[in-house]
Amino acid sequence: MKQKPSVCLRDRIAARAPMFLALMGLALPQVVFAAEDGAMDPRQEAALLERIAPVGKVNTGQAAAAPAAAAAAAPADPAATYKTVCAACHGGGLPTAPKVGDAGQWKARIAKGKDALYTSALNGTPGGMPPRGGSSLDDATIKAVVDYMVAQSQ
Ligand code: HEC
Repeated sequence: MKQKPSVCLRDRIAARAPMFLALMGLALPQVVFAAEDGAMDPRQEAALLERIAPVGKVNTGQAAAAPAAAAAAAPADPAATYKTVCAACHGGGLPTAPKVGDAGQWKARIAKGKDALYTSALNGTPGGMPPRGGSSLDDATIKAVVDYMVAQSQ
């Protein structure tokens, strides 16, 4: 008499289940640790940070004090703008972004001259600096923030 195919299949799956589970056990930690070791492509990382930036802006801005004024984009305090728009990367969160306050990381960049830094900040760089830090701030505001960052990093 022929065995029912369904029984046969179930037996085969049952026989392989332990091996399948063992493989999952090997693969899962690798996925988890790969995500943790920070070895993300800088551009991917920049895109990710850019995507989450608006959430940070809503949470960390001074909107509570004067939401209308913030929306009107009055000449903002460069320190506050830095904190809201740039600090996620330049505060040490993104290893490839020169950290504000770390003179060693800024020395060679400052040596290029302010105009070069302005251009990088406005247009972005292939190394992961997004144009205007992912914001739509005007030139004068971006330049003021660059001045602030440089002053903090000498
Ligand atoms: C998404 C992350 C990110 C944000 C947000 C960000 N930066 Fe950057 N920035 C970088 C990275 C990465 C570099 C290094 C790029 C390189 O070396 O090409 C960089 C480099 C720079 C430099 C040096 C450029 C040079 O030519 O050496 C300046 C100036 C700068 N950023 C200004 C700003 C300002 C101002 C803001 C906010 C308005 C800002 N950044 C926001 C990631 C970021």
